[in-house]
Amino acid sequence: MAGKRIGIIMNGVTGRMGLNQHLLRSVLAIRDQGGLLLADGARLMPDPILVGRNAAKLEDLAHTHGVARWTTDLDAALANPDDSIYFDAQVTGARARSVEAAIARGKHIYCEKPLAVTSAEALALARKADAAGVKHGVVQDKLFLPGMRKLKRLVDSGFFGRIFSVRGEFGYWVFEGDWGLPAQRPSWNYRKEDDGGIISDMFCHWRYVLDHTFGNVEAVSCLGRTDIPQRVDEAGKRYACTAEDTAYGTFQLAGGIVAQINSSWDFRVYRDELFSLQVDGTLGSAVAGLRECRVQHRVNTPRPVWNPDIPNPHAFREQWQDVPDNTAFDNAFKVQWEMFLRHVAEDAPFAHTFLEGAKGVQLAELGLQSWAERRWIDVPALEL
Ligand SMILES: NC(=O)c1ccc[n+]([C@@H]2O[C@H](COP(=O)([O-])OP(=O)(O)OC[C@H]3O[C@@H](n4cnc5c(N)ncnc54)[C@H](O)[C@@H]3O)[C@@H](O)[C@H]2O)c1
Repeated sequence: MAGKRIGIIMNGVTGRMGLNQHLLRSVLAIRDQGGLLLADGARLMPDPILVGRNAAKLEDLAHTHGVARWTTDLDAALANPDDSIYFDAQVTGARARSVEAAIARGKHIYCEKPLAVTSAEALALARKADAAGVKHGVVQDKLFLPGMRKLKRLVDSGFFGRIFSVRGEFGYWVFEGDWGLPAQRPSWNYRKEDDGGIISDMFCHWRYVLDHTFGNVEAVSCLGRTDIPQRVDEAGKRYACTAEDTAYGTFQLAGGIVAQINSSWDFRVYRDELFSLQVDGTLGSAVAGLRECRVQHRVNTPRPVWNPDIPNPHAFREQWQDVPDNTAFDNAFKVQWEMFLRHVAEDAPFAHTFLEGAKGVQLAELGLQSWAERRWIDVPALEL
């Protein structure tokens, strides 16, 4: 079978997401499975070049994982016509500049969310990428999680009847860093001056999850909080948390659905998974997580009666049924990488464009505005 090489410039792969999800679980996993099988029977083999600021880290990474190429010179990497894709998982604030440089070099671009710090900047990138005729995409990994795919299957099958409510809980305890265990997220997440904050981080995700699963987000109301005022950074230094670590968001969706999602790095988990989304409709309900999804149809719905004078007679959790796996679910990031590679290599459709990414940034921006002004904000349609 014929093999085709595709050169990918990967920037930010010394970071948490770049390394684990994109380099190891996606690009190298595709390489290690013998490439990506294309429609014409050829196998597309990714050939990454790792880009970053720290030569020693890059060399070590490349050596450990059998990657032949690395560099600290992004411009030189972009100048190589044999590498047609630029990927970016740098800190958010560094993204727009590098993406713009890649567009100028005619690269196809795939990158982490948020696409940029402001929606104006994100839209400008979308316009520039279109004008340059390059293909572009933004990570929307939650759509490809097994739990979310099962949920989408339920929506598409009409299981819920008329959906009216979507309620999500996202979060876990991120250690402060000054006692016990080290923090499990980077410190820039907690500093506004470094483009941190949970609203910018998570509302990008909620935008595409809600838009793609239930209906377009039409309005937002948001309250942010910084519940842990100080943390300790990677160097052991105490710093002030200038960005919010918790967000209580309410969203009005097309079709009259109300969605409410709490996002926090200061909530302790008493749920089955780190994210759970309950959907209620006239004919049935579901609770979906990262991997699992449970349903309760109207015919299986118990009839509880309020009576605190007796022990609760219902085992409520046992009254739900699992949606079976039914199919093998690959890593969510890898699934989307394969879609993007097909988009580039054989022009397969790809819905998760820069415009979609800009919508996520827009919702985060309007969420911050809603919080600042203590009011509901309509979400206008974004146009190129
Ligand atoms: N899709 C998701 O679920 C998801 C989850 C977490 C983070 N992210 C996104 O991925 C991106 C990276 O997040 P992360 O958690 O991997 O961060 P991280 O701090 O672990 O990694 C950041 C990377 O950017 C590089 N970098 C470039 N310029 C930098 C600078 N000026 N200061 C510091 N680092 C710089 C670092 O070397 C490193 O490789 C962010 O944009 C974030 O929003 C996405």
